[in-house]
Amino acid sequence: MSGVAIAINAAISTAAYCMTVRMIPRFREMFIKANLFGKDLCKKDKPQVPESFGVLIGCVFLVSLFLFIPIPFAFDEAAATDAITGGKPDTFPHDKFVELIAALLSICCMIFLGFADDVLDLRWRHKLLLPTIATLPLLMVYYVNYNSTTVIMPNFARDLFGTSLNIGALYYVFMGMLAVFCTNAINILAGINGLEVGQSLIIAGSILLFNAIELMLGHQVDSHIFSIYFMLPFLATTLALWKFNKYPSQVFVGDTYCYFAGMTFAVVGILGHFSKTLLLFFLPQILNFLYSTPQLFHFVPCPRHRLPQYDSKTDLLHISTTEFRLEDLNAPGRLMVTVLRNLRLISWHTKADGVVRTNNLTLINFVLVVFGPVHERVVTQMLMGLQVLCTLIALTIRYPLANYFYAK
Ligand code: UD1
Ligand code: MG
Repeated sequence: MSGVAIAINAAISTAAYCMTVRMIPRFREMFIKANLFGKDLCKKDKPQVPESFGVLIGCVFLVSLFLFIPIPFAFDEAAATDAITGGKPDTFPHDKFVELIAALLSICCMIFLGFADDVLDLRWRHKLLLPTIATLPLLMVYYVNYNSTTVIMPNFARDLFGTSLNIGALYYVFMGMLAVFCTNAINILAGINGLEVGQSLIIAGSILLFNAIELMLGHQVDSHIFSIYFMLPFLATTLALWKFNKYPSQVFVGDTYCYFAGMTFAVVGILGHFSKTLLLFFLPQILNFLYSTPQLFHFVPCPRHRLPQYDSKTDLLHISTTEFRLEDLNAPGRLMVTVLRNLRLISWHTKADGVVRTNNLTLINFVLVVFGPVHERVVTQMLMGLQVLCTLIALTIRYPLANYFYAK
């Protein structure tokens, strides 16, 4: 009967889309009055754009799922009222119920913490701490329901570790780090109109596609249905946000949205038991993170904003840069920039006074290093194209290659 529950979820999601599309324009003035706005740095006159609309999207998402909570159980025979006592049956699926509630608690917590970040502009170490705290309800429910910390080994490692390996507490550390990664990875691949929302749309679409394939193959049906329950309203509300956040942005999403999106993905990945496949859908974000590491860990100077530089004469985006003296960097920093330079992965300009100027290390700037100055709308399209390509690569790795590596 979960087909009926999915149909009702889809109907709620459609209503959520219609409602969000109507609500966003009405809230614009209210956000500006509350001082919730940012300057669109890649436009000629740097207009004020209301920011943190993730909080609105997150609220509609939560309300949609709150309304949906009773539905899966209304169609579950195990949860039906006991015919003799008229009360709750012994067979009530408490595990599924608590999973749904804990998942919503983690997402709700992340929206709240993300909004706090938008308002208070927290430091980076706090940005790492917040998702860790928000995952605790999720990890707790994983512990109570499954506590399975066994990893299936690929063929080539089986001689060494056996068919499967119990990694115990490390599994929980991995899940906590997954949430920290998902939330921050979206937030640092940002700064041009529509990019945060565009990448989230494609990741959500990829997850739904993966869930549909797995359901057709009859694998772990309950887990994938659980994921669909979350992904449909997420996709609907995100689609509504995209309408207003795409170039030229009428609203900004804020860190609230990045955290909300990242946490929702982490939740379905962890409780849907497909965290490794989820990471495959994050390939562009992983590349952006790896490329960013010299700046994120301060081996190379990192300015407050790394988004590209706008040229008002041509209306195109150019790379934004950072400057340093090679001898001022520590040894790992020098090694990192030298490797990147030799692989031709960064721009390199040595000024007369010996100061080196390179692009800020983000995927957005890398696209500009390769293709030269490009219009903002086109950069977003290029990066969304890359995200789609990575989904195709992910599915190729997940199916043909996984069958090869994990064949019995
Ligand atoms: C992260 C990035 C930062 C990037 C910023 C852009 C790291 C370590 N941090 O910081 O380099 O500059 O995101 O979101 O990689 N903005 C635009 N156009 C857009 C979206 C945002 O101009 O399409 C500007 C606006 O001024 C907006 C601000 O970016 O107010 C939002 O930045 P914020 O989310 O606070 O930056 P961080 O997430 O801290
Ligand atoms: Mg941000």
